[in-house]
Amino acid sequence: MDDLNQLDEIMACRLDDGRKAVSPCTIVIFGASGDLTIRKLIPALYHLAVEKALPSPVRIIGFARREKDDAVWREELKAGVAQFSRSKSVDEKVWSEFAANVSYCQGDLTDPAAYTRLAGKLTSFGVPELRNNLLFYLAISPSQFGAVVEQLCGANLLKRVETPGEWQRVVVEKPFGTDLPSALKLNNELTRFAHEKQIFRIDHYLGKETVQNILMFRFSNAIFEQLWNRTSVDHVQITVSEKVGVGGRGGYYEESGAMRDMVQNHLLQVLSLIAMEPPVSLEAEAVRDEKVKLLKSIRPVRDVDKQVVRGQYFAGMVDGKLRNGYRQEEKVKTDSNVETYLALKLFIDNWRWSGVPFFLRTGKSMPLSASEVRIQFKPTPNVLFAAKGGLKLDPNSITLRLQPNEGIYLRFNGKVPGANLQVRPVRMNFSYDSEFGAYTPEAYERLLLEAIAGDATLFIRRDEVETAWGIVDPIRKGWSDKPLTNREFYSAGSWGPVAAEDLIAASGHTWRDPQPAK
Ligand code: BG6
Repeated sequence: MDDLNQLDEIMACRLDDGRKAVSPCTIVIFGASGDLTIRKLIPALYHLAVEKALPSPVRIIGFARREKDDAVWREELKAGVAQFSRSKSVDEKVWSEFAANVSYCQGDLTDPAAYTRLAGKLTSFGVPELRNNLLFYLAISPSQFGAVVEQLCGANLLKRVETPGEWQRVVVEKPFGTDLPSALKLNNELTRFAHEKQIFRIDHYLGKETVQNILMFRFSNAIFEQLWNRTSVDHVQITVSEKVGVGGRGGYYEESGAMRDMVQNHLLQVLSLIAMEPPVSLEAEAVRDEKVKLLKSIRPVRDVDKQVVRGQYFAGMVDGKLRNGYRQEEKVKTDSNVETYLALKLFIDNWRWSGVPFFLRTGKSMPLSASEVRIQFKPTPNVLFAAKGGLKLDPNSITLRLQPNEGIYLRFNGKVPGANLQVRPVRMNFSYDSEFGAYTPEAYERLLLEAIAGDATLFIRRDEVETAWGIVDPIRKGWSDKPLTNREFYSAGSWGPVAAEDLIAASGHTWRDPQPAK
């Protein structure tokens, strides 16, 4: 080890003691036959087993309507791990130990007898913690959340009042409602039977390492935090672009569109981490208090036409292959006006960010899958270089690349070597891969572990979800039934509609598109 590495070792500040304390428990997955279970949850739990991060002992029960026995379900799961897990392979030894703890419980979500069967299964576990420490994962439609928690309470499996030495938690997936009234209703249904502290609402973006790093980057570096305000920042661009189209999810997407699918949750979460004030501690409530405060400071969008642009892709080439237009996708109306792209200009009315525009955009069927945040700093006074022929310098920027090619890039100007006076932007790079090696746990691994450990920092609190709906609902209402205009369509494989260029150009800026890895 060289001196510098030794110094790094000493200076690395451990904020926790490495591994989360996780007590023995049983994880019950409702919606055991669904896509999420096969593609994400079981592969994540399997990888936690590989890393010996799961509690010991642990049991996993899948609950679903279809008739099948343990052996059949385990085989399905094993095939899922081989196909969808990040390692795309199954270690036989780890799998057989893991699978021995996995079982299936057939039942209808609304049938009390099914919950009696579930309770019977739990009672058969010898270790008391396996019977009493219960993580209920609702990988089911939100319309069924209320019924399930009510049944769980009825069967005395979920206790709203904490009993010392045991815990029960409920993990719910998005979409968490379709607007503010439906989110309020869902929250009321859940909190009748589970305390807010027992509810873990997932936004898988918060499980991403790079998203978690936003707070560390901001609050552990004096040099950047000094610049993080209206005095130095000109504007901020948050881009989440996806190469995939809507594909087979047309039915769902017709109801959600990009606003409900991406903006209300993932983009607003990233925005709140980028812009929030320092929390008083790193405890869950302190961090969530600041995020809510930030969301509440977002100025309501009054002039939807000037601040929001919808888009929808028509047929075009993505990666050299012809992609259907959205209106030709399965289960999509041929005259649908649902947005597959959105660009927004938001303002945050607080001391730090007054007057700084935040441009957010997301879209499907774009040229590149990339999520990044670009902090664009103010230009230098145009004095020295203007005298030399009006040279316009590119202002400095910091880009937090969330995925893929995770990293942080600082862009500044430098003199091109040679006798000519030429200045151009150069980049200083930090790449996760080269600094830390290819360590890329799936977001669900981290989130499951946090839920088992009872740490709610990476989950969405009730007031966060409601405030976020409060921001997007008026915008959706502003569109009402207005059809898309020609300037709002974009070719699949392009960076979005012309109207989005207009939106940012009106503020004197241009979109800075994410760049592919070199
Ligand atoms: C999901 C959306 O929440 O996030 C999908 O429903 C989207 O439409 C996905 O594709 C994007 O997640 P990621 O982790 O691939 O950026």
